[in-house]
This record gives sequence, C-alpha cells and structure tokens, in this order.
Amino acid sequence: MRVTDAEFVQGFIRLCSDGYAQGWHERNGGNLSYRIRESELSTLRPRLRTDGVWQSIGTAVPGLSGEAFLVSGSGKFMRNVALDPEACLAIIELDPAGENYRLLWGLRDGGKPTSELPTHLMNHEVKKRATNGRHRVIYHAHTPNLIALTFVLPLKDEVFTRELWEMATECPVVFPDGIGVVGWMVPGGREIAVETSRLMERYDAVVWAHHGLFCSGESFDLCFGLMHTIEKSAEILVKVLSVRSDRLQTIRPQDFRALAADFRLSLPERFLYEKESKCAERLAWRGRVKAGCMAEYRRRHAELWPEMAEVLWAAGIRNYSIFASGEELFGYYECERGVAYAEKVQAESPVVKRWNAYMQDILELRMDPETGAQPKLTQVFRLD
Ligand code: 13P
Ligand code: ZN
Repeated sequence: MRVTDAEFVQGFIRLCSDGYAQGWHERNGGNLSYRIRESELSTLRPRLRTDGVWQSIGTAVPGLSGEAFLVSGSGKFMRNVALDPEACLAIIELDPAGENYRLLWGLRDGGKPTSELPTHLMNHEVKKRATNGRHRVIYHAHTPNLIALTFVLPLKDEVFTRELWEMATECPVVFPDGIGVVGWMVPGGREIAVETSRLMERYDAVVWAHHGLFCSGESFDLCFGLMHTIEKSAEILVKVLSVRSDRLQTIRPQDFRALAADFRLSLPERFLYEKESKCAERLAWRGRVKAGCMAEYRRRHAELWPEMAEVLWAAGIRNYSIFASGEELFGYYECERGVAYAEKVQAESPVVKRWNAYMQDILELRMDPETGAQPKLTQVFRLD
C-alpha cells in the first residue's frame, strides 16, 4: 500500500483541505498531528525510511516513547497538502526517551515538522494519559472570529467558556469541560507548549490570544468538529457584539443547569456565574495565623485545591481576597447568591471541612462558635 492510500493519511489530508476552505489557514498558518496506531504503522513499514537522523524535539515527552506521528511540515501551506502530501507532510518516530525524532517518510523536498511540534507532542502526551489513549488528533488553526474576541474579552477560561456557551445551545454539549485561554506568548517553543499542555489536562480546546486555537480529539471528525463549533460560536458572538453591546435575552445559568440535567452533563459551576453582581452581598472575616506560619499560609493558598475553588464558585463566592498585616488576616468576598447561601454551601461541604482541618495547624483558632467559621465583621460603610 502507498503511504498516501492509508485511511489515516486520507483523513489527515481531508482535514487540511476542509480547514483551508473555512479560511483558517492563510499561507502556512496552522498545523496538524496524528498519533499513529501500531497496526497502521506496521502495514506501511516497507515504504518507510530507516536511515533518518535523530533530531532534538526541544522538549521531553517520555509518555510518547517510541510512538510515531503524521505531522504537517513547517512552512507548508495547508491548501497544498492534498496536491502533494509527500512534500507537505512527515511521518516521524520518537526515540525511547521521547527527546528526539527522526523522519520515516515525507518532506520529500526537505524541511522540518511544524514549528509547533513541542506543543503538539506535549498535548498528545497529556491527552494520551488523560483519555486512556483515546485521543489521537491535535489541531491548530487561525480561526478569525475567536482571534477577534481575544482583543475584547478578558483572557479568562470562565469568560471565554461562558460567552461561547451562550451563543449556541449545542456548545455546552460539545465542550462541557469548557475551554482554556493562554495570554499572548511567543509561539513555537517549549514555554508556550508547557502552558498549553497544562490547560489540556482539563480542557479539549485552548485559545492562544491574538493567534488561534488548539483542539484535541479522538478522531479527525471530532477534532475538526470541536474547532468548527467553537469558531462558529465565536462568529455569532462577534455578530451580536457588532449589532449592540447588550443582550435582550440569552441562555441563563438556570437554563444551562436544566440542559445539564436533561443531557446528563456535568457543567462546572465556575462557568455559571451571575453576570449582574452589582448588588451582591459582601462578607468580611478576620483571623490570625500562628507565629511564623505566614509563609506556609501563603503557600497553601497559592496551591488552593481545585475542588475547593469549585465549592467556593458553587457557593456564589466571587472576588475572594485575603489581606495580611503581620499575623492578622482579613478576608473579603462577594456573595452572588447572598451570604446565607454562601455559608450554607460551605457548611455542608465535606471539601471545606477537609480544608479547615488541613489549615488547623497553622491558624490561631478563634472560630465563631455558631458558624464554625472565622468571626465575621460588621459592615459600617459602603460606596458603590
Ligand atoms: P508551521 O508552518 O511551522 O506549522 O507554523 C504555523 C503556525 O501556525 C505557527 O503557530
Ligand atoms: Zn499558529
């Protein structure tokens, strides 16, 4: 069998053409990679080179030891892939340490795999582990509407996820875990690869501000479908924002909760915040760390458990800030759903109980005997 006749190579080529037709691949913009199954590789072995020179990947991906990938070439145009796949694409294999690669096929007229190889491989490594080997496709495209939004929306996972979810009812179903956002960084290196793959632990899509989008998927169809859904939603949002800055009606947090129940989805509460928090109630508390324990207090909060953050979001708590003066602590937060609700959710949460127990050794315990929390302060002035 010719390499280009293999089903996975055909699927790869089709995605490149479809992405170009969408307007996502000006010049050499964007790139694609596929983690090849051993069975797919073995049928092609007689057609593959064995004399490729090992070259550094620029990062280490030990979780991909010995794996082979079909990747687009650096500087190659997506619109040319279908016309001349052997010149535009490469099959590479990694060494046992996952630090070097060598060419098995393709790049007939010379060249290198995509300059984003470190990000592609680090994403593959994360996704292979996180999905038990199911995800095989990583796709990067320059999707114009989503890029436009990175100039006008806060670069926060919560904001991008929520705004895109609101623009199309199918979105929470297609990407229920949300999407991540990376601020502007120099592309093509290890640093942006580390940042992107960190977010790929929890998301299947990561936005690069002022640049484009990375998506991960099980198959070419699912990966392309994810990119397409996100970009379409971004296009609707750009249109809505262009017509007028406010919305007369939209899909509300309670609607998302109803959708989640009906579709048996788990939508993280941190994406379902109330947007109008102007009249939110506020709560302040005071406390004290034991002598010499402030550094440890800071460290534990810098590494706040994700499940603790999720409980606080679910309790409607926003803008949580803690200030210190010597060993004195002063905490402040806004309660989007009211103080009573925030206290109730915390009081009933086993995670909060575990957190309080974990903090006990470094806090002077002067808890309010009624609530079990630090003593609350009384508000005496407020200017909105
Ligand atoms: P490559 O041509 O090296 O794949 O780069 C294109 C791109 O989009 C870089 O982010
Ligand atoms: Zn790019």
